[in-house]
Amino acid sequence: MTAPEASASRRRAAVLISGRGSNLAALIDACARPDAAAEIALVISNRPDAAGIAHARAAGVAAEIIDHRRFGARDLFERSLNAVLEAHEIDLVCLAGFMRVLSSWFTERWRDRLLNIHPSLLPAFPGLDTHRRALGAGVRFSGCTVHFVRAEVDAGPIIVQGVVAVRPDDTPETLAARVLEAEHRCYPLALALVASGRAWVQDGKVVLEGASAPSGLWINPLPD
Ligand code: GAR
Repeated sequence: MTAPEASASRRRAAVLISGRGSNLAALIDACARPDAAAEIALVISNRPDAAGIAHARAAGVAAEIIDHRRFGARDLFERSLNAVLEAHEIDLVCLAGFMRVLSSWFTERWRDRLLNIHPSLLPAFPGLDTHRRALGAGVRFSGCTVHFVRAEVDAGPIIVQGVVAVRPDDTPETLAARVLEAEHRCYPLALALVASGRAWVQDGKVVLEGASAPSGLWINPLPD
């Protein structure tokens, strides 16, 4: 039996996807826990062929397709998106591989209720082709960032970051796979922190309550 009070107080989250949906799957799994602070109440894809829609259907989550190509202008697409989110009484929106740039109208409307994940340690390497550019720059560490969304692409107050070491033989594909594992742990954590009221924005940065930081020093390469 589910505890009605606990589920009634959960924040209703929507996940917006454009493709594979592995972060969506991680969020659905995490929010299936009885003590989760958020429930995944809606999935929206802007692409009818997004493989990730299957994760929503398998979990019995409402799924909508809002094909951006049906709209002549970006603001019409975003108004339709917003109307569907409001119709489902959504509190929080998670962008998870949602490959459309959102205007300041949308990001302001959902200010501090709109999260994104990006596969780099922002503010390094925003935008596309992240892993190739990280390897090209010769960084020794990379990772992922979950942040509140602002109008600039892949920018906004940082909630959670996960770090992975870059290996000498890494390709963009091997690095992407290692970062993706970090993403699947960081996004559920970030959503839990926001949904439970333990992460909020103050003076342009995220304040965390009751969250501790790891100690120690990471060096790459390892000394002999
Ligand atoms: C993830 O690696 C996510 O960080 C990235 O798209 C991938 C989606 O994978 N997002 C961006 O690059 C946003 N700038 P998924 O569909 O399996 O979750």
